[in-house]
Amino acid sequence: LETALISNRFKTFATTECRGSSTLYEHFSEQIATDDELLQLASYVRPGQPVPNLFFGAVHYLLLKGSNHELREYYRSIVSKPRDFTTAFPYFRDFCLKYSHEIIQILKNKLVQTNEVGRCSYLYPAFCYIYEKIKRPLALIEIGTSSGLQLLWDKYCYSYNSNEEVYGEALSDLIIKSEMKGVRPPVILKQSPQVTSRIGIDLHINDLYNPDDYLWLKSLIWPEHTQRISSFESASKCLKLQPLELIEGDGVKLLTEIALKIPQDSVICVFHTHVANQMPEESKYELLERIKIIGQERDIFHLYNNMWDLGLIHLEYYLGGKAYSETLAETDGHGRWFKWKG
Ligand SMILES: C[S@@+](CC[C@H](N)C(=O)[O-])C[C@H]1O[C@@H](n2cnc3c(N)ncnc32)[C@H](O)[C@@H]1O
Repeated sequence: LETALISNRFKTFATTECRGSSTLYEHFSEQIATDDELLQLASYVRPGQPVPNLFFGAVHYLLLKGSNHELREYYRSIVSKPRDFTTAFPYFRDFCLKYSHEIIQILKNKLVQTNEVGRCSYLYPAFCYIYEKIKRPLALIEIGTSSGLQLLWDKYCYSYNSNEEVYGEALSDLIIKSEMKGVRPPVILKQSPQVTSRIGIDLHINDLYNPDDYLWLKSLIWPEHTQRISSFESASKCLKLQPLELIEGDGVKLLTEIALKIPQDSVICVFHTHVANQMPEESKYELLERIKIIGQERDIFHLYNNMWDLGLIHLEYYLGGKAYSETLAETDGHGRWFKWKG
């Protein structure tokens, strides 16, 4: 990639993604955009990858891994009282040049692949809604599972609108808090619906049992987002207690074969969040066609977002061969709030 193009990406990233979310990354992005040496370094990112996310992820990864440099004093994920961000850039620059070899290796080899467990805040009521409709155990198939954390939505505890009342797995290590907006709240079951199987598919699986994958996923969370980091850590602990079947491959192509393995007493629930926007158009149509064909033989639900629009959770399903379609909720990208429409 040309450095002029990368410079523009950092400028846009500063205003559209960082502002209001990370003052540190906003400040760094503005400075990097005019720094030829750092732009040169960032140009090692593989084509198709979001450059700023990968670049910042690489630096964060090396710091979390223990690189001993004063830059760490500016990261809220590492020190409890970070120094004033306005003095951070010279340290950031020095770090990048000192560790340029390590950074290039990361940029060439790693992918931006988050796994946002906060999104379970709206998946939980959505699955309750499905369960209330069908009253049969759920067999989960997640496309774009990353490391599988959302396959465990029934193992987490939920609290809405700062209420004392909790839902799901009350004793879970992870409490997911979210704001529920709108005048027609969903029916949220106190106890998690029964889940009989969990299968996750991804083009590249992140294995949280592998310390390097674990650290990489953590590094992709921005340093100020300490709540997201601690949710990730707690969810990872839950994952280690729970058997998951994670399969590497194209979730669209593998779907039919995987669905065939699901016992008839469970209802198939295919779901994916923030995945369909990465699929080519023909894959989206192929996915819907495959679900329709399965739906002629048995009941199936399909819960997803970001296919034809952004920020809306859709539910399509076939019951007794008949097709239904609903929009369940409007949501924040990280699940911090959602507005139920179902
Ligand atoms: C932005 S991440 C979202 C991960 C997770 N669903 C979440 O919400 O945290 C998108 C994931 O979808 C995966 N992906 C994209 N297209 C896919 C496909 N056709 N089959 C399987 N995985 C896919 C990517 O590899 C990546 O891990």
